[in-house]
Amino acid sequence: MHQSSQNRKTFKTVVGLLLTLLIGCSALPDQTETRSGEVLIIYSGNALGELKPCGCDKEEDQGGIERRMGYLKQVNAQESNTLLVDLGDNFKESTRQGKLKAQTMMKALERMNYDAITLGDKDLLYGNGFLKDLPNIPWVAANLQLEGFALPPSRTKVLANGLRVLVIAVADPDLFYASSDSNMKLNDPMTALQQEIDAARKNEPPDLVVLLTHMPREKGIAFLDLSGVDIVINGHIEKDSDRIDMAPVQKTGKIFVQPGPLGQKMGELRVHINPDGEKTFQQRMVRLGSKAPMDPEMTQLYDAYNGEVEKLFMATLAAKRKQKQNRIFATDQTCLTCHAKEHGVWSKTGHSRAYAALREVNKSFDPECLTCHTTGFGKPGGFISEIDTPKLKNVQCEVCHGPRLEHAQNPQGGFAKEALAACGKCHVKKHSPKFDFGQYWPRIRH
Ligand code: HEC
Ligand code: HEC
Ligand code: HEC
Ligand code: HEC
Repeated sequence: MHQSSQNRKTFKTVVGLLLTLLIGCSALPDQTETRSGEVLIIYSGNALGELKPCGCDKEEDQGGIERRMGYLKQVNAQESNTLLVDLGDNFKESTRQGKLKAQTMMKALERMNYDAITLGDKDLLYGNGFLKDLPNIPWVAANLQLEGFALPPSRTKVLANGLRVLVIAVADPDLFYASSDSNMKLNDPMTALQQEIDAARKNEPPDLVVLLTHMPREKGIAFLDLSGVDIVINGHIEKDSDRIDMAPVQKTGKIFVQPGPLGQKMGELRVHINPDGEKTFQQRMVRLGSKAPMDPEMTQLYDAYNGEVEKLFMATLAAKRKQKQNRIFATDQTCLTCHAKEHGVWSKTGHSRAYAALREVNKSFDPECLTCHTTGFGKPGGFISEIDTPKLKNVQCEVCHGPRLEHAQNPQGGFAKEALAACGKCHVKKHSPKFDFGQYWPRIRH
């Protein structure tokens, strides 16, 4: 492979030289030269349906579609030779809310005008039909075959500066068979890739070949060795808490990069191609933090999603109200009658205002937030809604001490220690990355 391209280059050079000798210096047709120039590749991925960060922690308050679009508009105002790609795993869970998120995410990506988006194993959660109904997404996948839905194996973008960029995508079959049962077939990635590269070279050879891989990091890096591939961008995430190594790996004239988790940062890879066809790279991650501009169009899209979540919440209330639930929680007001000292301490902590924090961001109907900001949401006898169970708002005593109606009626001890194990249910990495029992407990000790 490498050999034949090498030969053709040499051949072109020889022909070029002869032509120069024959007809003088300036009359060389363009395509016999290697084009030089610059391209800015912007890459994202691993979003897992994260439309907007929850805001539980300031440091983790990064990413979201509003900031992503704000960032992209800024870049587009300054750069004319860009390639925008996404590495997949945009969806997360096969719930109705998960599907709402997936739909919103795809609408967002559509408006962001991506050049190529490949599919991760998570993106098959709602089946082929769901993907087929998204006609404006620039899918690319060379070794993935979905029943009833043909995916383009590659895409070519010709930039304003004339550079031809070929984008191909391959996925790791092992990942897909492990996590999906939709109607699909995966071929060997290497064979599919080779075919695409060969086909492209037969037509008009690209100036840059960008390979999108969806696989574990090490497997993606291995594709750097393949002749004809200049850049490998790899994505894949299992769960929210995954740490992803965003450090690039360079080999002569080639580079491997990965987007981070949850769409928190955007990858920027600036590629410079000199007249000899030699490539050099500059890479950086751009944090979409609280100072990043919020795009109003995306805010609208997010608000529409929020509205749908509220409707879904209201629709489930009727069923929950019908279920007669036994009372098991006494509520903090009952504990207060005998534990005034502890109650006094608690009422000065954030735990006693956790529900208000949701109201402030218009999220008091989102089950994904209520689980940690109320008492017993989703459990029998626990919080249902502000109207149904006004006394179970906030992170109350019984979140940590367990349902204690019986204890309140007939006080007996022996369960205090159990509360020590409660913190980890809510103070998880994504929502409380700085949590350390030794530092947090003194702030709420009672
Ligand atoms: C897994 C549990 C969990 C979930 C789910 C969760 N939160 Fe939180 N939230 C926390 C914890 C824990 C803190 C406190 C973090 C800290 O101080 O370390 C917090 C803090 C916050 C704060 C800051 C409160 C303040 O007064 O500073 C806001 C706002 C918030 N969450 C909103 C949300 C929203 C909106 C959602 C849903 C999209 C959500 N949370 C989902 C656990 C959770
Ligand atoms: C965030 C979790 C959490 C919340 C909320 C909480 N507690 Fe506790 N509580 C603990 C832990 C942890 C301990 C200490 C256990 C130990 O070290 O033995 C404790 C200890 C206690 C003790 C025993 C104190 C002692 O001196 O032995 C009482 C009584 C108590 N809590 C009552 C309450 C009451 C009443 C509320 C609500 C007003 C409340 N707690 C809210 C976690 C919590
Ligand atoms: C009617 C009074 C009364 C009410 C109401 C009451 N408690 Fe107690 N609580 C006690 C007494 C008395 C003890 C000490 C029992 C013992 O040591 O045998 C105690 C002990 C505890 C302890 C320490 C347990 C231990 O292992 O030493 C915790 C924690 C606690 N209560 C939490 C609560 C919570 C949470 C509520 C509200 C759901 C509550 N209590 C409501 C009277 C009450
Ligand atoms: C049901 C979920 C939940 C559990 C369990 C929980 N927390 Fe929290 N915690 C929260 C939420 C939500 C907040 C943010 C509340 C706010 O400020 O609005 C928070 C905030 C805090 C804060 C900062 C608020 C302040 O007033 O300083 C501390 C400290 C804290 N938690 C300690 C603990 C410790 C220690 C435990 C275990 C003993 C624990 N939490 C268990 C949900 C929980």
